[in-house]
Amino acid sequence: MPFSGGSNLPLTIGNVELSTPVLPAPMAGVSDKPFRLILAEFGCPLVYTEMVSAKGLVYGSRATLKMIDLAGEGNVAVQLFGREPEILARAAKTAVERGAVLIDLNLGCPMPKVVKNGEGAALMQEPSLVGELVAAVAAAVAVPVTVKMRSGWDGASRNAVQVALVAARARAKAVTVHGRTAVQRYAGRAEWDTIRQVAVALSSQGVSVIGNGDVASPEDASRMLAETGCQGVMVGRAAMSNPWIFPRISAYLRDGTWLDPPSPSERLAVARRHLDQAVHWEGEERAVRQMRKVIGWYVKGLPGAAALRQEVSQIREAEAMRQALHRYATRLH
Ligand SMILES: Cc1cc2nc3c(=O)[nH]c(=O)nc-3n(C[C@H](O)[C@H](O)[C@H](O)COP(=O)(O)O)c2cc1C
Repeated sequence: MPFSGGSNLPLTIGNVELSTPVLPAPMAGVSDKPFRLILAEFGCPLVYTEMVSAKGLVYGSRATLKMIDLAGEGNVAVQLFGREPEILARAAKTAVERGAVLIDLNLGCPMPKVVKNGEGAALMQEPSLVGELVAAVAAAVAVPVTVKMRSGWDGASRNAVQVALVAARARAKAVTVHGRTAVQRYAGRAEWDTIRQVAVALSSQGVSVIGNGDVASPEDASRMLAETGCQGVMVGRAAMSNPWIFPRISAYLRDGTWLDPPSPSERLAVARRHLDQAVHWEGEERAVRQMRKVIGWYVKGLPGAAALRQEVSQIREAEAMRQALHRYATRLH
């Protein structure tokens, strides 16, 4: 699609002004500190943690607290999941004490272990509770509170507009809408019309609407902004080990500038840096385990990627992983 004017406007979420309207999505198992640091390096003005259990924070689970270790980072939004106003409020306070500049509430996770507790996307079925949750968190912290939702629970209950209005009334400063129902999970194409409807409904409320679902290129981002009237675009799967997508989208939206996708050697150089960040922040054992899958994403589509994936899946030491990356880079030349 040709460049259609895009957006020169920064995205504003409460008192947080962002230089670009494109944001990386929170993704469990992906949006850890090493990846967030890479995203910040690539100019993302705000990055999200993966979803963090509010209960885990309040009860002091060490693993959960580690998820909100924001040391050494820039603007980080902490995404919380839970369904008790009091617990979410306390968890949000803890996250803000650790440096969160924004609290996002998860209304979109469709995973059985989450929805069976009435959390995540199950909350789409309880709009008035959503209002209580947002109000409780907004009263507890001075940073903006936002929600990220599905278009509804299922095809018969696409109530994103209703939930968005409830959240706005309770002082949410932005609403992200993923254009799929919870029952759909990630199947099929995302539909953006619900995003448009939410943008229309919130247009006079001073609440930013962030569209999400199947944005995988600068043209997709431009089209989503134009077709839905949303103010921001959030990119999930297409950003896995692909931080280049953010400067590419931002440049295109700014003035139609087309930045080429990265070369294989650029991809490998960033994979190597990602590995180094992971070892530094997570320790070697954890880093190597995580990087087995992350390296696979960096080399997706390159010649010999399957063999490299197979090789790194056996590796137990960071230095061996660096050498495997180096040998692969040499083979590619
Ligand atoms: C591996 C994975 C983990 C995810 N984890 C979260 C999460 O923790 N919180 C959340 O709100 N959404 C999560 N999502 C959903 C994404 O944020 C996003 O809404 C969804 O992938 C649609 O956007 P996309 O088409 O750009 O990928 C996750 C998605 C994936 C693929």
